Amino acid sequence: MTVPLSRPARGALTLAPTHPSRSFRDRVDGLLARVGDTPLVRLRRILPDDIGPEVEVWAKLEWFNPGGSVKDRAALSMVLDAEERGLLEPGDTILDASSGNTGIAYAMVARARGYHLTLCLPANANAERKAVLAAYGVDVVETDPLAGSDGAIEVARRLAAEHPDRYVYLDQYNNDANWRAHFDTTGPEIWRDTGGRVTHWVAGLGTSGSFTGTTRYLRARNPDIQAISVQPDSPFHGLEGLKFMETSIVPGIYDPDLADQHLFAPTEEALELVRRLAAEEGLLAGLSSGAAVWGAIEVARRLDRGVVVTLFPDSGERYLSHGHVFGAGRRAHGR
Ligand SMILES: Cc1ncc(COP(=O)(O)O)c(C=O)c1O
Repeated sequence: MTVPLSRPARGALTLAPTHPSRSFRDRVDGLLARVGDTPLVRLRRILPDDIGPEVEVWAKLEWFNPGGSVKDRAALSMVLDAEERGLLEPGDTILDASSGNTGIAYAMVARARGYHLTLCLPANANAERKAVLAAYGVDVVETDPLAGSDGAIEVARRLAAEHPDRYVYLDQYNNDANWRAHFDTTGPEIWRDTGGRVTHWVAGLGTSGSFTGTTRYLRARNPDIQAISVQPDSPFHGLEGLKFMETSIVPGIYDPDLADQHLFAPTEEALELVRRLAAEEGLLAGLSSGAAVWGAIEVARRLDRGVVVTLFPDSGERYLSHGHVFGAGRRAHGR
């Protein structure tokens, strides 16, 4: 069966979480209850000298989630939502497309709750992701590497249409429970951990779930908060997990009007920042975190004062096979 999904009407937002007493942490126990509540840490050494002393930059470390990425939140939220709507029962097979992290998050949630998982994954997904998926025993359908994550989406759609009784297609790109996860958890955590002082929120766009849900929550708390989205600056980029919207299948949950500003990160500058995060802050972050911190610095250097928060979706450990980023031959950094 496929999940009927609706696109949220523009501007038709409730200003409170849908299920205020039913955030996913209250609906699960054991391992899955550890999803969310990740650390927010202040960045200092990596900030350029032209950022004033009254500007703070903070990063939310999403690799502290049990499945190792921000996508634990969305995967758990989408699975629980499908269960509550009577679309998923133990023994069913979840289907979706992913470039990796959502697949790993689904695998963890599916195994913990008694489901099978079929994942459409571009054949060139990196070795670390494939190894984790294999360890979970996931049924991986490899898709055209040249077609990237859009190719995986097309195959997932076709499988869902051809075998409606075999799969429950969660469709993270069009599933409101994706961005809701961040409205219900990521946003409230940032608000709480900054004591309501956050002034600017910067995040990369993949499905756009983390940017969308967190922005909607923070704006509901303080309409003056500025939300800045970050995309790669070209369709052919090295920022795994992020989408260049202009030439991609645009996610149904993406609302281009939500951001106050759209930034476009150059791959090489972002990757250089990934290396510097490790060398100067001790943060072994993933590639899209480089784009996030690039965006946060761009924003911060234009401010006299403010509290800029960004999100690091996963850890550099998921990219160690990318020799061009963390290769042993690279020169050491540091001040
Ligand atoms: C490494 C990485 N960064 C960023 C993102 C973007 O997150 P979102 O889908 O919430 O926009 C993803 C999504 O899969 C990801 O895997």
